[in-house]
Amino acid sequence: MTDATASATAKGRVLVVGATGFIGQFVTEASLNSGHPTYILVRPSSATANPSKTKIIKTFQAKGAIVLHGVINENELMEKLLKEHEIETVISAVGGEKILDQLSLIHAINAVGTIKRFLPSEFGHDVDRSNPVQPGLNMYKEKRLIRRSIEQLGLPYTYICCNSVASWPYHDNNHPSLALPPHDQIPIYGDGSVKAYFVAGADIGKFTMKTVDDLRTLDKLVHFRPSCNFYNMNELAALWEMKIERSIPRVTVTEDDLLSAAAENCIPQSVVASFTHDIFIKGCQVNFSIDGPHEVEVSSLYPEEPFISLDDCFNDFAAKLREEKGKETAPRPVVEPLPITATCA
Ligand SMILES: NC(=O)c1ccc[n+]([C@@H]2O[C@H](COP(=O)([O-])OP(=O)(O)OC[C@H]3O[C@@H](n4cnc5c(N)ncnc54)[C@H](OP(=O)(O)O)[C@@H]3O)[C@@H](O)[C@H]2O)c1
Repeated sequence: MTDATASATAKGRVLVVGATGFIGQFVTEASLNSGHPTYILVRPSSATANPSKTKIIKTFQAKGAIVLHGVINENELMEKLLKEHEIETVISAVGGEKILDQLSLIHAINAVGTIKRFLPSEFGHDVDRSNPVQPGLNMYKEKRLIRRSIEQLGLPYTYICCNSVASWPYHDNNHPSLALPPHDQIPIYGDGSVKAYFVAGADIGKFTMKTVDDLRTLDKLVHFRPSCNFYNMNELAALWEMKIERSIPRVTVTEDDLLSAAAENCIPQSVVASFTHDIFIKGCQVNFSIDGPHEVEVSSLYPEEPFISLDDCFNDFAAKLREEKGKETAPRPVVEPLPITATCA
């Protein structure tokens, strides 16, 4: 297969929606690194009200990002911004609760008619294949609706299915890589034997950007399956123990525990519990082969491009844990997982 990546001289303008978010930050950083003129859509409230978001925006601006103010629900404004700034690629990384906001954006993209690629907010599993229990299923239904709207309008798209973020897969944590792996007890889902793929945030950004100019990924679903980062819970636990040079007691979190946590319908923790069940009990990342006409695997597209290994990520986590422990005057857990039996009103 020939690498159909466009030449470095023809980098089109990229608009990232959700640049201040967890995944959006990785994508924006990668877009800037890739040399694409990078625009970020910032909600007016985000630019003023939240100091941490203001800092993120300023950092991106210092690296060359151009800030556009607006929200994707404002159809006319979006149409105007896309036209005026001659955007070629739109990458959306809006959060799970805002998936349907993309419907207006899709209509703006369609009206403009010059967008060469739209990457909707996916960044997880193949939502047409996976069927997590509720409340995770609702998010998948919304992502499916977005896919169908894109396809019905005939917009050029790429769906990024990057699997799990390289970090400890807590079942009650929304943004896993913000939390260090456990150091008091290790939760093992089921018998701990079901495998999953882990991808560092920086690689989610880097490979997402590689797909943008690649004709092989046009109207395709791109799966991320780095063979170096394929682990089950038992292997993850052993890797972590090796990094911190001690063993940690294992605690089994059964299928029923995960289903109960999902059934509590406590958002977002229950959504994560339903995905954890789908990944580590049902094996949603591994129970199919990539052989459809509209899907490709990222390692086979870019065989020369290395992935950051989970081993390296865990080295970083262990260094951070040592640093945090050094700062503590009294021992306390770095992460305080919510009790699985917690109820929500
Ligand atoms: N594979 C994984 O392990 C994994 C992990 C996490 C997320 N994900 C997926 O990645 C995607 C992004 O999730 P996330 O957790 O990164 O999201 P997030 O942290 O909640 O960030 C959402 C971003 O979207 C912006 N936004 C929300 N509504 C908007 C609107 N109407 N107009 C313009 N901007 C808007 C937010 O702006 P403000 O700054 O103004 O709030 C923020 O920048 C989702 O599809 C999610 O399912 C996958």
